[in-house]
Amino acid sequence: MGHRVIGVDVSRAKVEMMASGRSPIIEARMSELIAEAKQARRLHATTDATEAVLNSEVSFVCVGTPSLKNGKLDLSHIEHVAKEIGAAIRQKKSPHVFVLRSTVLPGTTENVALPILEKESGKQNGRDFTVCYNPEFMREGSAVADFLQPPYTILGARDSVHLAPLRELYKGPPGTLYETTIPIAEMVKYYSNCYHALKVGFANEMGTMCKHLGVDAQAVTKIFTSDTKLNVSAAYLSPGFAFGGSCLPKDLRAITYKAKELDLKLPLLESLMPSNAEHVDRAVEMVMSTGKKKIAQLGLSFKAGTDDLRESPQVQLIKRLMGEGLEVRVWDEDVSLGRLAGSNRQYIEEVIPHIGSVLSADLEAVLRGAEVVILGNKSANRELLARYLRPEQIVIDLVHLDPARRPQGAKTYDGICW
Ligand SMILES: NC(=O)c1ccc[n+]([C@@H]2O[C@H](COP(=O)([O-])OP(=O)(O)OC[C@H]3O[C@@H](n4cnc5c(N)ncnc54)[C@H](O)[C@@H]3O)[C@@H](O)[C@H]2O)c1
Repeated sequence: MGHRVIGVDVSRAKVEMMASGRSPIIEARMSELIAEAKQARRLHATTDATEAVLNSEVSFVCVGTPSLKNGKLDLSHIEHVAKEIGAAIRQKKSPHVFVLRSTVLPGTTENVALPILEKESGKQNGRDFTVCYNPEFMREGSAVADFLQPPYTILGARDSVHLAPLRELYKGPPGTLYETTIPIAEMVKYYSNCYHALKVGFANEMGTMCKHLGVDAQAVTKIFTSDTKLNVSAAYLSPGFAFGGSCLPKDLRAITYKAKELDLKLPLLESLMPSNAEHVDRAVEMVMSTGKKKIAQLGLSFKAGTDDLRESPQVQLIKRLMGEGLEVRVWDEDVSLGRLAGSNRQYIEEVIPHIGSVLSADLEAVLRGAEVVILGNKSANRELLARYLRPEQIVIDLVHLDPARRPQGAKTYDGICW
């Protein structure tokens, strides 16, 4: 892109290779790019961080963040670099931008690197230098291509004015440029990598299942991934409440039972029902931790717009809260007994009569006297809620109700996993 770059590493061998125009790693297109840049005198390499900082405007820090034996992130390289760069900034007359690119847990940039930089430089973030976080999404083997065609670029800073130099630097590559906080930028990287690991594990376990059932796994995957509406999409990726309903739990059980019959270990698939149950436990704990006794739950079916109560985690939650001795009242327009017919009515009357007896379609009556209001599915309507909800009532949102539909005025409004 025409910038002048000084590469810094503690490894003399890497620096020497780079300085002589050779790539210290095997990576597609890297040898040509380094040779070209060296030829054009745009690339230099040194082991001296101070020299590099004094002769540049921006430092991109991409030192390793390996695991310690216990799995904890080893931040020693980052601490070391922050010290060196901080000390160099102390000598600098012009402002400097410190951009962390290494993968670090949320809070690391601001709570580990920044204090070291301020201490060592004797200067202040936002005044004399700036600190930004810019996660990288390149894959080894196609790093250059990924850099030139990124899915997006994420820039995190305390104040968006700190990002001006980076905004300029990233004018070239396509994709959306997100400007956000440092912890969000740090977390997107972990969210992505954990998801990628999950996808690999999932595809491998499903492939194993296919193979043992005599089904062509690649053919199944090809059709599966062509669905960009529900399968390879943002669907089912919104932090919210446990899954339920007539299909997911039943089908998961069928496939994991079959795996047992086939003597297959599929720990990822087997972990999904326990993970879901844990999420219901989390909701119970959230309600219990309020210390309140009178609870209104809005929503009984597993999703709004249906009266299907089969394997509804909302029903499980109410049963658990009742079991803890809390006084629970339930509102669900779709399930209210008066409107219900057929198997769902029978289910309430025979299997969960205790819930049937506290179920009502009268929102005002359900909310009256409640200390905690649980938004159990997305059926709650903002205008109705606004009419009957009182500010002192604690609202627990299990479904991430669209902010435009949330009631205003509740002093405490808390989401289950956001
Ligand atoms: N490898 C990838 O594909 C990839 C992708 C995205 C993010 N990341 C993240 O980027 C970071 C770096 O990963 P990596 O695989 O390149 O690690 P790496 O260990 O291969 O490279 C890190 C380099 O930093 C050098 N170094 C260590 N301390 C230094 C110091 N004080 N001054 C100068 N140089 C120093 C090391 O000598 C080494 O050459 C990690 O946080 C990683 O999670 C890596």
